[in-house]
Amino acid sequence: MSHAEDHEGTRRDFLYYATAGAGAVATGAAVWPLVNQMNPSADVKALASIRVDVSGVEPGTQLTVKWLGKPVFIRRRTQEEIDLARSVALEDLADTSAENANKPGADASDENRAMDENGEWLVMMGVCTHLGCVPLGDGAGDFNGWFCPCHGSHYDTSGRIRKGPAPTNLPVPVAEFVDEATIKLG
Ligand code: FES
Repeated sequence: MSHAEDHEGTRRDFLYYATAGAGAVATGAAVWPLVNQMNPSADVKALASIRVDVSGVEPGTQLTVKWLGKPVFIRRRTQEEIDLARSVALEDLADTSAENANKPGADASDENRAMDENGEWLVMMGVCTHLGCVPLGDGAGDFNGWFCPCHGSHYDTSGRIRKGPAPTNLPVPVAEFVDEATIKLG
């Protein structure tokens, strides 16, 4: 990658963070817990679910979709990213909970955060657990995962907080594969 392309990428990321981040700060904190707590009826639940076609997502890239007013990161990880995530000892993690709505109470091993057994797919809310900015992805930060520039939170290739003020791992929402190319959120 040339220097110019690299710079362009960084700038685009920053613009995205700046616009999406502002929205997330304004509305994000209220929407997510509210939907959980209200125990919505079936019709509301149906609206709260979306299906995402992931057939075009190449390994080493990420799709960001908006769901319930917030960004959701759907990353198809490379073997290197998976190996890196799986080589980390639980004792080295600041938050030892998987923070995975599909596996309540599970520990934060990468196996408990990924969608599939091989660990290729990682789905999580793209909202920093510190104050709600949208972290930068694609290998950003000291742990090659995501980096939140607002106050310097570094997440690893499993979306787990490794350094900085964010208190918890990026949460994994209710999600499942409904067929091999479609992920249903909610
Ligand atoms: S909002 Fe991400 S580090 Fe503060």
